[in-house]
Amino acid sequence: MAKRVLVTGGAGFIGSNIADELIHRGYNVTIIDNLSTGEKCNINPKAVFIKGDVKNPKDIEKCFTKKIDVIFHIAGCASTIKSFDDPAADLYTNVLGTINIINAAIKHKVTRLEYASSMTSYGVVDKIPVKEIFPARPIAYYGITKYSGERYVMATGIRTDLGYRLNTTAFRMFNVYGRRQSLTNPYQGVVSIFIGNAARGEDIKIFGDGEQSRDYVHISDVANAWIGAINNPRAYGEVFNLGSGIRVSVNELVDIILKAFGTSRKKHRVSYFPVRPGDQRHMQADITKAKKLLKWKPEMKFDKGLQDVINWAKETCG
Ligand SMILES: NC(=O)c1ccc[n+]([C@@H]2O[C@H](COP(=O)([O-])OP(=O)(O)OC[C@H]3O[C@@H](n4cnc5c(N)ncnc54)[C@H](O)[C@@H]3O)[C@@H](O)[C@H]2O)c1
Repeated sequence: MAKRVLVTGGAGFIGSNIADELIHRGYNVTIIDNLSTGEKCNINPKAVFIKGDVKNPKDIEKCFTKKIDVIFHIAGCASTIKSFDDPAADLYTNVLGTINIINAAIKHKVTRLEYASSMTSYGVVDKIPVKEIFPARPIAYYGITKYSGERYVMATGIRTDLGYRLNTTAFRMFNVYGRRQSLTNPYQGVVSIFIGNAARGEDIKIFGDGEQSRDYVHISDVANAWIGAINNPRAYGEVFNLGSGIRVSVNELVDIILKAFGTSRKKHRVSYFPVRPGDQRHMQADITKAKKLLKWKPEMKFDKGLQDVINWAKETCG
C-alpha cells in the first residue's frame, strides 16, 4: 500500500506544491493547516485535510486516524518581519509547533520526519557560498526559531531511548519561489511580491540599496529533494542546503521582472527604504552535499521559473 505522508502547512506555498507532487507520485497525503497564511483553494482535493494548529497537540492527534508513515513538517511562521513584530507568536509556532510534531511522531512510531529549515539559520556569514558545516549564527528572530526547530528534529533523530529510530532530515531552504507564493502578502517571498507589484502596476519597494543578493530555488526542485529523500538512508540524520547555487541581487531581480513585464525603471517606479532588521547581505548555497548524497540538482533555470510565475500572476491578477 502506498505510504501516507502528513504534510503540515499543506495549504501554504511550499506545503501545497509538495503535497500535489506527492499525490502525483502515488503517495497518500494528510494535511494539517490552520489557514493563517495558507489558502483552502491550495489544498489538493485528494488529500485528507485537518483544519488545525500545530501548537495544539489535540489538533495534531486528529491526523493519525490513518497510519502516518512520513511527516513533512512545513507549517511555520515564514516571515522575518513578523518574527520581530511578534517574537512570541513566531516562537510558539516554529518551536513549540515542532516539538508537538516530534511528540506525535514518537507517540505513533513514525519512522521518517523531514523538516523545513531555512538559510536564515546561518545569519551573517564570513564567506559565500555557505556550506552546511558553517556556523549557525542567526540574526533574525525567525532564523533563531527555524534553527531551534531544526535542532529539536535532528537531536530527536539520534535518540537511542525511543525503542525505535526516527530518521530525520532538515532542509535549509534558500529563497524558494514558484506558483502560489502570495502575490499580495508583503511578508512573503520577494519574487512574488515584486511580480505582484508589477502585475498590478504598483511601485516596487526595495529595502536597502538593492545590492544584497539571494539564491533563488524553484519549488519543483525543492519538491524533488524532499520527496527523493524519503527512502534514501544517506539523507537520514543530515542537514542539506537547498538552493540553486546562483546568486542574484535584488536590483537585478527587479530589472529582470520589469523586463519580463515589458517595462523598465524608466516607466515603473522603484523606491528605496532603509534596510530592515535581520536582513542578510549576501546569501548563496553550496549544494555539493545535496548533489552528492541525494543525487539531487536544481533543474529549473531561473528565467524559465520566473516566467512561469509571471504567467500565473497575469492569470491571477487579470
Ligand atoms: N518560502 C521560502 O523561501 C522558505 C525558505 C526557507 C524555509 N521556509 C519555511 O518553509 C515553510 C513554508 O513556507 P512558505 O513559504 O510555504 O509559507 P506559507 O506561509 O505559504 O506556508 C506556511 C503554512 O503553514 C501554515 N501554518 C502557519 N502556522 C501554523 C500553525 N500554527 N498550525 C498549522 N499550520 C500553520 C500556514 O497557514 C501556511 O499554510 C515555513 O516553515 C518556512 O519557515 C520557507
